[in-house]
Parts: sequence; structure tokens; C-alpha cells
Amino acid sequence: TGYITLDIGYKNTGATKSAITFLDGELGILKYRGYPIEQLAEKSTFIEVAYLLIYGELPTADQLNDFQKLISRHTLVHEDMKKFFDGFPRGSHPMGQLSSLIGALAAFNPESLKQGQSTEEVNLEIVKLIAKMSTLVSWIYKKSLDHPFIYPQNKYDYVTNFMYMTFAERTEEFTGIDPVVIDAMNKLLILHADHEQNCSASTVRIVGSSDANLYASISAGISALWGPLHGGANQAVIEMLEKIKEDGGDTDKWIAKAKDKNDPFRLMGFGHRVYKNFDPRAKIIKKACDDILEKLGVQDEVLEIAKRLEEVALKDPYFVERKLYPNVDFYSGIIYRALGFPTEMFTVLFALGRLPGWIAQWKEMKANKEPIGRPRQVYTGKTTRDYVATADR
Ligand code: CMC
Repeated sequence: TGYITLDIGYKNTGATKSAITFLDGELGILKYRGYPIEQLAEKSTFIEVAYLLIYGELPTADQLNDFQKLISRHTLVHEDMKKFFDGFPRGSHPMGQLSSLIGALAAFNPESLKQGQSTEEVNLEIVKLIAKMSTLVSWIYKKSLDHPFIYPQNKYDYVTNFMYMTFAERTEEFTGIDPVVIDAMNKLLILHADHEQNCSASTVRIVGSSDANLYASISAGISALWGPLHGGANQAVIEMLEKIKEDGGDTDKWIAKAKDKNDPFRLMGFGHRVYKNFDPRAKIIKKACDDILEKLGVQDEVLEIAKRLEEVALKDPYFVERKLYPNVDFYSGIIYRALGFPTEMFTVLFALGRLPGWIAQWKEMKANKEPIGRPRQVYTGKTTRDYVATADR
């Protein structure tokens, strides 16, 4: 007792045992429940991966069908939830909207506040959350345009329904939602679906460990994801690439800025706490990015800048010595842009993908009956001193 291990930022401290996601940062390996990310991205769908993460096994055809049907049945949100959208100012950030909307879902589902819910009750909460998240995310997009909301259609699968609610009035561009687009979206969401004990997953677990309800825990995770050092990096990457483009596309100049310790600028989309060789998700996304832009016939100058930056950085001793490689967010924004999403929506799309991972982490923490998360500290403040009256200060 009295002995405290100090590890600021948890660089080398395990906070839990987990059977969900395996990550080897040295070898660049990522697996969900034992399945390599490369296979899942190639062969699976987002909703199947969600099932896998949350329930531990790939679903049978019947289980998958039931899961999808149950989700479809819960995609409508309470009509009064729409009043929140009236209150948000035009142009308010989608992540601020999303975290408050998801937190508010607890107020609309008071049964979620009950302690000691049965497995069935928890499963229903999980399904409702996955279902309503897609509706709310697409409505956040509609709100940004001041366009009417599009209601979900049960005939569509999860990802198609999401894209339908988001882009329905733009069908001329998507010709009834191009399967190439649905495929790309599935891939992106799968690649973001979990990443073991990162900042937002740890947040979800620690909030949930106080027995706070699922919606409150996920809303906290969304807030953690918002930061540019975490999920917010995907927005920051495109903004950076745009800035470099406007500045004449001189990548060497910006690499020099990133290396300059007196300049706060960091090369967004580069570096990772755990991956020290390459980020396996970035490899898949880079290829998907090339494929999708080609299939959609999109030419994007920022893709060329991104490729040039990567090429220069990978040879530069500063980046090599610090083992800084492109991460998942370096190319994801370029794909989201090609699919028609505005930059401010990117981190919300990350949240949509990460939701099953957060739920799986929350569920595992509950199942393992983990104690309340409560780190200690090393106190560095003043020792005892006596109160001084205001007049004497
Ligand atoms: N550009 C320039 N220098 C960097 C960068 C970068 N992107 N990332 C790290 N460094 C330097 C850093 O200055 C430090 O140098 P020194 O040892 O000389 O002081 C060294 O590399 C180690 O960096 P760190 O900040 O101690 O490493 P960390 O593990 O605490 O941070 C990180 C990891 C991802 C926050 C960081 O690499 C970063 O800020 N990257 C840019 C933001 C980004 O792309 N984030 C998305 C991460 S992937 C998606 C997700 O998980 O949400």
C-alpha cells in the first residue's frame, strides 16, 4: 500500500484483459476475435463484423438475418428527438451534435437506467443503439444542408439504408446507390470497428464501470473520439492536405514544419501509439482509395499530395527514427470525400464504424464484473498551509 506506479498516458500499462481485438504494433497485425482484418475487410460486411465483435462469433445465416431484421425494426427515433436538431445552431459541429443526441437517447429509453438488466434487455438496448445511430448520423448530415430528414427503409441492409437516408435526394449522382459505394463504405466501417484499449474505448469502459448506462458510456466515447489526436485526425488530415494544396503543394516545406520542434504543426495522419512499423488498416485503405477513385472516375489533387507526403516522410530520418508511418486516417478522408461527405462529417463516420467496438468493450467490462475505474496519482501540489482571509491576501 502507498506505492503507486506512474505511467502518464498509460504508455505501458494494461487496464484490462480482453478477448475482443488482438493488435501487434511491431508486426502490424490486427485481428477481431482472431480473424485478420485483411480477410474481414475483403469478405465480410459491417453488420456481420458488428455481430462478431459484440457476440464473439461470426453469425450463421439465420443469426445474421435476425440481427439485421431486429436492427431495421429499431431505426426510427422518437419524433421528439428531432427537436434537438432545431436547437443546434446551423453549422454546429456534427460530433457535438452526435454526443448529445446519443446521451439523450438514455432519456428516451428510461429502461436502460435499470440496474441489473437481463441479457435480453441489454441486447435490445444494443440493437436500438446501433439502429438509431445510423439514422441520427444521416440526419446530422441533412441538418447541415437544412434539408428534410429522410426516414429509414426496412428493405435495405444497414449500410445501404444509411447511405439512402444520407444521400436519397442525390440519387442522380449515386444512381440508386452504386454497389461500389456500398462496398467502400462497408470496408471503411469494418476497418474502424474496434482497436482495443484506445482513448475512446478506455473512456467507454471507465464510464461504464461506474454502472452508468450504455448510452451515457457511448456518448462519452464519442467525445473522446472527437479530438484531433484520435478520431478527429481524419478531418484534420484533409484540412491539412487542402492547406498544402492552396500553399502551392510544396510537401518538403510542410515536412520541415512537422520536424521543427518550435512549430506545433504535426503531420496529421502520421504516427500511432502502438503501430511502430505500419498500420495494417492504412495499407488496406490506401489500396481501396486508389480503386474507388478509379471506379468512380474521381480525380482528386489532394490524393497526389498525400502520396507525395507519404513518399517523402517514409524516407526522412526524422520519421524513420521515430517510427512514424501513415495511420488509418491518412487516406480515409479522401475516400469519404469521393463518396460525397463533407469534411466535418468524417469523425462522425468514424464513430459510426467504431460503435460495435465500443459496445463490445462495454459488454465485456460488464461481463467480467470489472471494478470501477479509478486511477491513482502522484501528488505534486502544496503541502499544508493555513487559510488566509481575503483582506490579508
Ligand atoms: N508529426 C510530427 N512528429 C510527430 C508526429 C507527427 N504526426 N507524431 C509523433 N511525432 C513525434 C513527436 O513529436 C515525438 O518526437 P520527440 O520524441 O522528438 O519528442 C515522437 O514523434 C513521439 O511522439 P508522441 O507524441 O510521444 O507519441 P504518442 O504515442 O504519444 O502519440 C499520436 C501518438 C498518434 C497521438 C501522434 O503520433 C500524433 O499526434 N499523430 C498525428 C495525429 C493523428 O494522426 N492521429 C490519429 C491516430 S490513428 C487513429 C486513431 O487512433 O484515432
